[in-house]
Amino acid sequence: MPGIRGPAEYSQEPHRHPSLKVNAKEPFNAEPPRSALVSSYVTPVDLFYKRNHGPIPIVDHLDSSYSVTLTGLIQNPRKLFIKDIRSLPKYNVTATLQCAGNRRTAMSKVRNVRGVGWDVSAIGNAVWGGAKLADVLELVGIPNLTGSTDLGGRHVEFVSVDRCKEENGGPYKASIPLSQATNPEADVLLAYEMNGETLNRDHGFPLRVVVPGVIGARSVKWLDSINVIAEECQGFFMQKDYKMFPPSVNWDNIDWSSRRPQMDFPVQSAICSVEDVQMVKPGKVSIKGYAVSGGGRGIERVDISLDGGKNWVEASRTQKPEMHYISEHNSSDKWAWVLFEATIDVSQTTEVIAKAVDSAANVQPENVESVWNLRGVLNTSWHRVLLRLGHSNL
Ligand code: MTE
Repeated sequence: MPGIRGPAEYSQEPHRHPSLKVNAKEPFNAEPPRSALVSSYVTPVDLFYKRNHGPIPIVDHLDSSYSVTLTGLIQNPRKLFIKDIRSLPKYNVTATLQCAGNRRTAMSKVRNVRGVGWDVSAIGNAVWGGAKLADVLELVGIPNLTGSTDLGGRHVEFVSVDRCKEENGGPYKASIPLSQATNPEADVLLAYEMNGETLNRDHGFPLRVVVPGVIGARSVKWLDSINVIAEECQGFFMQKDYKMFPPSVNWDNIDWSSRRPQMDFPVQSAICSVEDVQMVKPGKVSIKGYAVSGGGRGIERVDISLDGGKNWVEASRTQKPEMHYISEHNSSDKWAWVLFEATIDVSQTTEVIAKAVDSAANVQPENVESVWNLRGVLNTSWHRVLLRLGHSNL
């Protein structure tokens, strides 16, 4: 492997922030407390959720030996060293990464689902620095805005070096359409920086893909090769996972081939300033959280209800401090979440509900039952927290 290797066990994992909530069964998956998400627009690297399907890869001698192979249905396959990638124009793209399993725990309360038990924090917003994949593909003779190469390539596959049990010890891999990969406006990056720092091991050092607006599973870390292929990647995580099934499908009647791999994530929001079933004193309570939609769609509105959805008030929305957020405006970060806030008056035990509406007028579904699926992905139902009247510091 060129300069990077995937260990078979977990003895060389990186240090992680003590406040991350670690999934008991899988120690390498962790999320921050929800309150940490609303304390800053850009999530600190230490508090960014970590989703790894195997032990974290190790790079022995950066620069000298690490390279990425570009191959497949292209005229001029070649190897790119990190210095080649760094010599391309550098872009900083603020983009929210969200695991398709975010809010799975709430879905599993309806009926059992399989997957890591995430609360609302399998999501984070970072400034990713790196080269555009569209520029990298130009180096091997694929012009911008190409849907198909002369040799029949229509998808771009990213292959890592980590050893995943789901791939029988093979590497994690995923693909995106060539038309998206070669579109400079899609902002797909080969990132070597996160929040202005060199990418750390947990998040893909030395090089990862960032596909803005798409479920986190397609943003492959620890990149080893990029292959231009005719069909979608046939790896486990594209074909046998991260697909959306209807509530009627169970483990006896599932037909994985009947659904496409999930790409864009749907409109989502969650309340983060208070926990579910939190004690509060009577009076004003600040309700803060995040809202985000996939595919670069902006957030038109976040509505808050205190009476089960009969009446709603609109929350204020911001991205950068001191700047009014306008959905789909050139002053806004297209791929990034919006933080919302509303002050409510609580005089009795109250369920607070948040629902977001995106720029295509997509709305979060009311009930988790209507989107339940056996893998527990894409729980975007209205987010609800119960505030109990009592003694509290809030
Ligand atoms: N890339 C590799 N090589 N191995 C992985 O396990 N996990 C994917 C994606 N890329 C994964 C990967 C998933 S499911 C998610 S949600 C994101 O990485 C998480 O990225 P993060 O750990 O940087 O937050």
